[in-house]
Amino acid sequence: MSSEKNRVFFEALARHSLPGDFWRQVGRTVDGAPVDETQIAMTVAAIRRGLDLQAGDVVLDLGCGNGALSRRVFDGCAGGVGVDFSERMVATAQANFEDPPRVEFACDEVERYVWAASEPERFTKGLCFFAFQYLAPSSAQAVLRGLRARFTSLDAFFVGDVPDKSRMPDSFYRGAYRPEPSDFESPFGVWRAPSEFVELAQRTGWNAEIQVMDAAYHAAHIRYNAVLRPAES
Ligand SMILES: C[S@@+](CC[C@H](N)C(=O)[O-])C[C@H]1O[C@@H](n2cnc3c(N)ncnc32)[C@H](O)[C@@H]1O
Repeated sequence: MSSEKNRVFFEALARHSLPGDFWRQVGRTVDGAPVDETQIAMTVAAIRRGLDLQAGDVVLDLGCGNGALSRRVFDGCAGGVGVDFSERMVATAQANFEDPPRVEFACDEVERYVWAASEPERFTKGLCFFAFQYLAPSSAQAVLRGLRARFTSLDAFFVGDVPDKSRMPDSFYRGAYRPEPSDFESPFGVWRAPSEFVELAQRTGWNAEIQVMDAAYHAAHIRYNAVLRPAES
């Protein structure tokens, strides 16, 4: 199930940021300021390492946003495709980061894409960074099942920046507000404890390895990454 509320939210985020302000456009900010280059380099390194990215890999990026992060990952391999349901995000990606046929971006809803994409077997690695939490739980499950069923050459899938329910702070923004952990339409999306993520992966045909970022990463205290590899069927 696609969320119209989330699509409208991300569309507005992309539209209300300045044209070259790529990190703000996807909400990669701390106290309102875009993160610095060190944070981006750490993110890209974690994805490349987690996927064991090789020169010949072809990568699928689900919920790719404006493509700024995708392009940095795709530049470490043979290329890839980014998919996002925000028209403005994809238009920005196509205008700034596309290099067809090596690097391409498509406007689509991720669950629909996973079950309908042509030639899914051409992808060898995949990622969904800072986006998986915005899928409805039923959709998160359908996406993982679809990847396992149709993307038969995929040997690693990296889910990044997952909000960790087991480390959820008691208050946010110096106030009493505390997000509802299962609300995929809230600013943080769904919070999952690592054990819940491992269980979701198992249910959908994957083995998940939980990885934490270096303490210098801006969100290391509340987020983790998961590397999924196909489970024996
Ligand atoms: C916080 S941004 C992150 C973008 C990018 N992955 C990054 O890390 O820079 C989340 C993105 O997920 C996309 N998204 C959320 N739910 C989606 C869905 N069901 N189908 C396609 N895109 C989705 C949003 O449009 C948004 O661009």
